[in-house]
Amino acid sequence: MEAQTRSLLEHFSSERRAEIEEHVETLVSELTLEQKVGQLNLLNADFATGTAVADMDIQQGIIDGDIGSVLNFENLEEARTFQELAVEESDHGVPLMLALDVIHGYRTIFPIPLGEAASWNPKMAELSARVAATEAAADGVQWTFAPSVDVSRDPRWGRVMEAAGEDPYLSGEISNARVRGFQGDDLSADDTILACAKHYIGYGASKAGREYNTVDISETNLREIHLPPFEACLEAGVGSVMNAFNLYERIPASSNEALVSDLLRAELGFEDLVVSDWDSFGELGEHGVAGNLREAARACIEAGSDIDMVSGAYATELVGLVEDDIIDESLVDEAVRRLLTVKGALGLFEDPYRYFDEERQSQRILTDEHREAAREVARESQVLLKNEGDLLPLDDSEEVALVGGLADSATDMLGAWRAEGDPDDVTTLRTTLTDRIENLAYVEGCDRDGSVSDEQLETAVETVTSADIAVVAVGERYSRSGEAASRAHIDLPGEQRALLKALIETETPVAAVLFNGRPLAINWEAEHVPAILEAWFPGLEAGPAIADVLLGEYNPSGRLPMTFPITEGQIPIYYNRLRTGRPAEDADVDLTEPPTGPAEKYLSRYLDIPNEPLYAFGHGESYTTFAYTDVSLDAAVVSTDETLSVDVTVENTGDRAGTEVVQVYINDLVGSRARPVKELVGFENVVLDAGESATVSFELTTADLEFWTADEEYAAEPGEFEVQVGHAADNVTAIKTFEFVE
Ligand code: NOJ
Repeated sequence: MEAQTRSLLEHFSSERRAEIEEHVETLVSELTLEQKVGQLNLLNADFATGTAVADMDIQQGIIDGDIGSVLNFENLEEARTFQELAVEESDHGVPLMLALDVIHGYRTIFPIPLGEAASWNPKMAELSARVAATEAAADGVQWTFAPSVDVSRDPRWGRVMEAAGEDPYLSGEISNARVRGFQGDDLSADDTILACAKHYIGYGASKAGREYNTVDISETNLREIHLPPFEACLEAGVGSVMNAFNLYERIPASSNEALVSDLLRAELGFEDLVVSDWDSFGELGEHGVAGNLREAARACIEAGSDIDMVSGAYATELVGLVEDDIIDESLVDEAVRRLLTVKGALGLFEDPYRYFDEERQSQRILTDEHREAAREVARESQVLLKNEGDLLPLDDSEEVALVGGLADSATDMLGAWRAEGDPDDVTTLRTTLTDRIENLAYVEGCDRDGSVSDEQLETAVETVTSADIAVVAVGERYSRSGEAASRAHIDLPGEQRALLKALIETETPVAAVLFNGRPLAINWEAEHVPAILEAWFPGLEAGPAIADVLLGEYNPSGRLPMTFPITEGQIPIYYNRLRTGRPAEDADVDLTEPPTGPAEKYLSRYLDIPNEPLYAFGHGESYTTFAYTDVSLDAAVVSTDETLSVDVTVENTGDRAGTEVVQVYINDLVGSRARPVKELVGFENVVLDAGESATVSFELTTADLEFWTADEEYAAEPGEFEVQVGHAADNVTAIKTFEFVE
């Protein structure tokens, strides 16, 4: 699996490239050591996401040449002031680079990234990043710390909302599209910004889902599970990568030479910028691998990390380390060269004020077109988890009771990491349904945090009793996911279950709409509530997008990017698990019953719950039905460099148009290391009218069969493979086999 890494300068013509390189070399030779070290210092101007920060007056620091980039500035005016100080008041005149976490939209807020990944549609990811970049660049931002590409199999971890879920392949496709959306074809254009693939690497494997906890993964796991989305970003030409907070092989990612210098730079060919996470250089002390800031600075620069976000380690220690001959100045030069190359690619040397233009700001932010894009992405992000008796879509002539504080909570719809998102811009579900359903009664039923008073319960029961159908908004508040928001219990907070129970007892049919930043443990709800629509945090077009689905104007097409467990005790639970020596699934045993003898007992199973999840990776229903009528492979034997075509015919067998996400998995039956029971290698969204069918073709190459072998190389090993095609990881409709020969 050779990474096709594209460096930032590869985006440009050879003349432009030479121009940037020349400019950078001149600066590197002219700047003093102190000024070069100042360039590597990234400081925070506004709100903080941690406590330990370098203590420096920002404006004075810029004038003194002690700061090279700034994050979290307040507005365009402040950004311009900072830039003026850098260009006109500092001795060196090198422009600053201004950064912000633009994670899922800038002012026009899109669904949270996990939700967007549920579209299984890279075009949606590219679109939302394109809009975000256009708005951010019109408001003074040049660098976003996105996309997050952390693969995670633990929904207790709050930051699963920020990335693309549990699967390396799906995450890679989505993350690659996000990078292309942010950076466009020309980084110096006035509507593109520098992307940053983060957090390199393994952060999603934080033990027990506890934020900032330790990570202990094998190299095979690193390479097969966590690395592929980073490689996909490098292929898209991402210009920066952020160190993760965690350890790898007990060495923090920021100072881990094997990760940064050897793997990212030497092996994968990444030539551009590596930035620390918030104070992650400083945290070497907390990890107990550096006795002081000087040791931390030395370890990080030697590992190949270029920019220090707020720890102050580089600013206070690098000059002394060079002067005392502990590190070579060329290490500082290399890091500065990479930063200046990025600044050159952004076009800052020609015009440091190119991102500050009030007219553009007023024309490009929160436009109707952007809102329409947010609605489109939010529609595609929703996953119909179940729909018993075709309860949905709603009939708008019926009396509908809408229940739940979240149905009317503008701020929650924006999710965590909302950049400049403003609750005033949000259209809630209540607002839209009030417009679109004549007989709609809204009652709160429960607060946004899930608490239910006796009075709320009574009124809700009364209202629902006299309605034809109830739509109940349940879930978690936005602040329960995101950074520093791990939960040990991932069920519905408060008394929401009791509310649902009481409403179901009225015998009015109940459809639940879920708002959440992670898979939830909703086994009871799945058993008792007839219809459940997963809406995540859908962004500012929440109301219109959900109403489109509830009223059947959009047929839900989202699929889960992450497994929903039956209960927290199953975590980590994910579809591409390794085989075990005593697989319960292959035994003819009812795993829902306690074992009665050794044949049932001595298996890889629980005594009290089944192994299977509640909803598998790839699951999602539709208002129509699809049938796979034919699956064929064009060869029984393939060899290196040959392609295998997998053809599948899908038919819409229902009575309305819909989208099927056709999923292709492979299963390598015998390998030099244990292989996953299945791995996603392809998917395609197929839009079909009622009764229509289409043939979809997937081309599998040797690269799809490769893995990190016992010989410590990427290779496809000869032997038998299965190809599985179908609706979801647990619902494949055809299995074909072929043999791979070298
Ligand atoms: C810490 C987070 O881990 C990182 O993702 C973010 O970009 C920085 N803070 C800056 O806000």
